[in-house]
Amino acid sequence: MHCIRHVTEDLIWIGGNDRQHPLFESTHPVPRGMSFNSYLLLDEKTVLFDTVDRAVQTQFFENLEYALGGRKLDYVFVHHMEPDHAATLGDVMLRHPEATIVCNGKILNMIRQFHCTDPKEVHLVNEGDSITTGRHTFTFVNAPMVHWPEVMVSYDSTDKILFSADAFGTFGALNGVLFADEVDFDRDWLDEARRYYTNIVGKYGPQVQALLKKAAGLDIQMICPLHGPVWRKDLGYIVDKYAKWAAYEPEVQGVLIAFASVYGGTETAANILACRLAEMGIPVEMYDVSVTHYSYVLSDAFKYSHIVFASTTYNNGIFVSMENLLHDIAHHALRGRKVALIQNGSWAPASGKLMTEILSGMKGMEILEAPVTLKSTLAPGQDAELEALAKVLAASVKGEEVVEEAPAPQDKPKGFVCKICGFVYESDTLPDDFICPICRRPASDFEPLA
Ligand code: FEO
Repeated sequence: MHCIRHVTEDLIWIGGNDRQHPLFESTHPVPRGMSFNSYLLLDEKTVLFDTVDRAVQTQFFENLEYALGGRKLDYVFVHHMEPDHAATLGDVMLRHPEATIVCNGKILNMIRQFHCTDPKEVHLVNEGDSITTGRHTFTFVNAPMVHWPEVMVSYDSTDKILFSADAFGTFGALNGVLFADEVDFDRDWLDEARRYYTNIVGKYGPQVQALLKKAAGLDIQMICPLHGPVWRKDLGYIVDKYAKWAAYEPEVQGVLIAFASVYGGTETAANILACRLAEMGIPVEMYDVSVTHYSYVLSDAFKYSHIVFASTTYNNGIFVSMENLLHDIAHHALRGRKVALIQNGSWAPASGKLMTEILSGMKGMEILEAPVTLKSTLAPGQDAELEALAKVLAASVKGEEVVEEAPAPQDKPKGFVCKICGFVYESDTLPDDFICPICRRPASDFEPLA
């Protein structure tokens, strides 16, 4: 049975919603499901705007044939060849060999790659080209890397509609609604829209900005994305969000604390820091990165102005879930955040130095203080270091000078660390004939503690 909704009098949503697959792109959890939007225009010519993921193909084809009502399919506008939109394009070409595929050259190449065939009829378009379908005229605009290199969007200058491909999409199935103004988007959808943007196109901020610049020159009254609700009211709201995200500007002046803790010592330090920040009125969000999927943490890393990474040391490195998160944040090109670090290591703390190395490879990441160092758990009195760090963070969040000098960190232990196993010999000197009690290596395999 068909399941459609009218977008306008002659434009119909014919997509589908998937709530069975737990992961989008085989990596991002979608507990609220996923929508795959496709639209059909019934003008003098009929136009299909993209197809759908295989997950919803049965519903899509029922919708397509019902909405066509026996008419032939004249055009298929292919904006993006990622299979969540184009997996069923090959089946459309088989069912409707009369249809002309409208796309750019890069899209045509990908049609050949993904479907191992050439469309029977192709109309190649370039930036600024137009097609008139009767009452409507469409102009094509390239949007490379939003989110793949072949992406283009199209603009209906008759009804002022932007068909925006992945841009302005969101995770989440459409539960009967079609328009963003049918839901409380800010309350119920924004977090998933941000998580979608940051994880899917967050790396390509400059390219998104380029698309926003082109779009600013158009009179857009409606946005039809390939995921999530259609925008027909308050377009400035979502465009402003995109402008911020694309510029890597935080939405909230506050602190995200991401911690990786094995036996609770690091978590306790993170909790104490969060308490001190909250007492100072600073917005705080916290995640145990071993429990929360990195896509959520990445999303809030874009959202907040300040980030604290707290990690235990593991195998002489950063704990694996934290290391993965940091690399993911770096791969998504986040920049311009103020950062503080907490490291833990029962005999050779190393995660602070290693986290610093990853962060130093990113643009505009300012580390506010030397890492707070724990050895297993907070030592008596060491909560003062966390209080001092909270004051530094709070002052930075508020854009104030730090009014109180942070207490001097405790004297670093003097000693030597075994380069092989990490054993630490705490002393001012290391005897020449010293043998590591753990791995039995000689003194020559030791180096002074950093
Ligand atoms: Fe929704 Fe880049 O595909």
